[in-house]
Amino acid sequence: MSDRVRVAVFPVAGRGTRFLPATKASPKEMLPVVDKPLIQYAVEEAVSAGATRLVFVAGSSKRAIEDHFDTDPELERALETSGKTALLASVRDIVPEGVTCIFIRQGEPLGLGHAVLCAQPAVGKEPFFVHLADDLIHSQKPCLKQMADFRTKHGGSVLGAQRVPREQTGSYGIVDIGDADPGVGGRIRHMVEKPAPADAPSDLGVVGRYLLEPEIFEKLETTGRGAGGEIQLTDGIAALLKEQAVYAMPFEGRRYDCGSKLGYLQATVELAREHPELGDRFRAYLDSRGD
Ligand code: UTP
Repeated sequence: MSDRVRVAVFPVAGRGTRFLPATKASPKEMLPVVDKPLIQYAVEEAVSAGATRLVFVAGSSKRAIEDHFDTDPELERALETSGKTALLASVRDIVPEGVTCIFIRQGEPLGLGHAVLCAQPAVGKEPFFVHLADDLIHSQKPCLKQMADFRTKHGGSVLGAQRVPREQTGSYGIVDIGDADPGVGGRIRHMVEKPAPADAPSDLGVVGRYLLEPEIFEKLETTGRGAGGEIQLTDGIAALLKEQAVYAMPFEGRRYDCGSKLGYLQATVELAREHPELGDRFRAYLDSRGD
C-alpha cells in the first residue's frame, strides 16, 4: 500500500441550484468566504494533506475556476509596480511549487459518481481524495490529513463522517457500522443514499470528503442511475465495500454546508471572527450591535 495520497479530485460541475441566482453564471465554488473562494480553501486542504496533482472536474460555466488557478502576469505586474507586495504574494501563492492542476470536462451533470469517473484518466491506479468544496470544514488539522493518517493506520478507503440530526438523514449518504461507536467510526457494512429517517441504518452521515482506492472506478463503470436519476458515488462505494474495507471516520472540526445560503452565512461569520487581519474589528462590530 502506498502511504502517500498524491491526487485530489474536485468535482465542480454541479448546477448549484440552491444558491441561485448567485450561481447562474458563476460556479458556487467561486463564492468567497471572507477573502478566498471556496475552491481555494479546498485546494489548500488537499495540498496540506500531501496532494500534488489536483484534478478539477468542471461543467460548462466553470472557466472562472480555471482562471483562478492560472497565472495572471498583467495583474502581477500591476501589483508589483504599485508596491503591493502582500497582495502580490497572495496571488502568486495560490498554486504552490510542485503542484499541478488538471481540468477535465464533465459534459453533462449526470451525478457525483459520474463526475468522479470522469477523473479516472488523470488519477490512474492510485488512491485519491475526493473533496467537495461546498463542504467547508474548519479544523485544527485539515480534514483530508486526518483521513490520510487514518488510512496509514487502518488501510482501506476512508469517508469523512458526522452524526446528523435524525430528521436530516434524507440529505446525506448514511452508513451502517454495526456495533462500532458512531463517535469513533468503524468499518462500513452498508450505506444508503439519502434515506428517509425511518429507513436510515444510523445517524452517521457522509460529508464531502472521501479517500478512495482506485477500484472504485470499476464499480462506478457499472453503477446505474440511482437516487434523483443521477449516478451516485454512494452506490459505487456500496459496491466497493463488499470487496474491500471502507471506513467511516468522524472528523475533528466544524463543517459548514456552503452550498446552502444559511451554511454559507455561518461560515462567513465564523471565519471572519477568526480572520488574522479583520477578526478584532469584526468581533467588535458584532458586539457593538448588541443583538
Ligand atoms: P450537490 O448535491 O451539492 O449538487 O453536488 P449541486 O448541483 O452542486 O448543487 P444544488 O443541490 O443544485 O444546489 C455535490 C457535489 O458534486 C458535484 C457538485 O459540484 C458538488 O461539489 N457534482 C454534482 C458534479 O461535479 N457533477 C454532477 O453531475 C453533480
